[in-house]
Amino acid sequence: MLVTKDNSREKLIIGILILLLAIALGGAGFFWKKSKTLTENLSANTTTFQAEIAAKNSELQGANDTIATLTEKLDDIEDDLEDLEDDYRDEKNKNDEFEDQIKAITGTVKDLDKLSKTDEELLQKYSKVYFLNENYTPSDIDEIDDKYILPGKEPQFFHGDALSFLEDMLDEAEDDGVDLKVISAYRSFDHQHALKGQFTTVYGEGANTFSADQGYSEHQLGTTVDLTDPETGGTYESFAETEAYEWLLDNAYKYGFTLSYPEDNGFYVFEPWHWRFVGTELAKDLNRKGDHFYDWDQREIDTYLLNIFD
Ligand code: DAL
Ligand code: ZN
Repeated sequence: MLVTKDNSREKLIIGILILLLAIALGGAGFFWKKSKTLTENLSANTTTFQAEIAAKNSELQGANDTIATLTEKLDDIEDDLEDLEDDYRDEKNKNDEFEDQIKAITGTVKDLDKLSKTDEELLQKYSKVYFLNENYTPSDIDEIDDKYILPGKEPQFFHGDALSFLEDMLDEAEDDGVDLKVISAYRSFDHQHALKGQFTTVYGEGANTFSADQGYSEHQLGTTVDLTDPETGGTYESFAETEAYEWLLDNAYKYGFTLSYPEDNGFYVFEPWHWRFVGTELAKDLNRKGDHFYDWDQREIDTYLLNIFD
């Protein structure tokens, strides 16, 4: 009875152990199967993922190739653009040079045209050496306003292009408190002939020291004027002692006037009253150098003709 009882217990334990073993084996089988499935899935996923990475890498490589190609093209375009810019600069430089040449030629043509319309006699030396023929008259002659004329004198005329310079000078003198008046301005060939005749009657040969023969007087140009102050009242050497003469020495060049016959000139007596318009450029240059009109070579004087009335 006791043995039977022990056997039953052993059998129960064995049964339990077998049951536990079965459960363990079943569990292990389940987990092994599950693990196998997971491993297989993981492997499949890894393969897919690797394929995708490879595909993406391939795409990336393609994109990189495209970028490289585009970069090359961009470089080429930039080179072309630089070449075009160089070409454009070259063309522009050529155009600029051409424009400068055209401007220079246009300027020269304008100067030549202006010069062709400017009376070339205006800067010639008319003192015993050079001769204006009896038909010469200034291109434009205007009457000088009466207020500038010495009272009692007949109306006087002056070159139309130089008149404003004369009037400006006389106005400026007046502003400075200096009273300058015109005694004689334009004299025609016939007028000079008559005047010289009168002087010769009175002074004989001596008239040649202060009066030009007809055709040799600067007065025939219309750009020369004899000035005095009312106190002196005429063309006397004493005018050289006046404040008015001092003012002319200091200022006349600014208005284009120069003293034709200074002391010890080679043509006539000293004529402090006789002033000739030669243009502001020439008058200023003569003044700056302390020279007189007849000191200079005619060729040098001629270079001032173009701008005589500027
Ligand atoms: N008194 C100057 C020289 C002339 O008659 O022109
Ligand atoms: Zn004179």
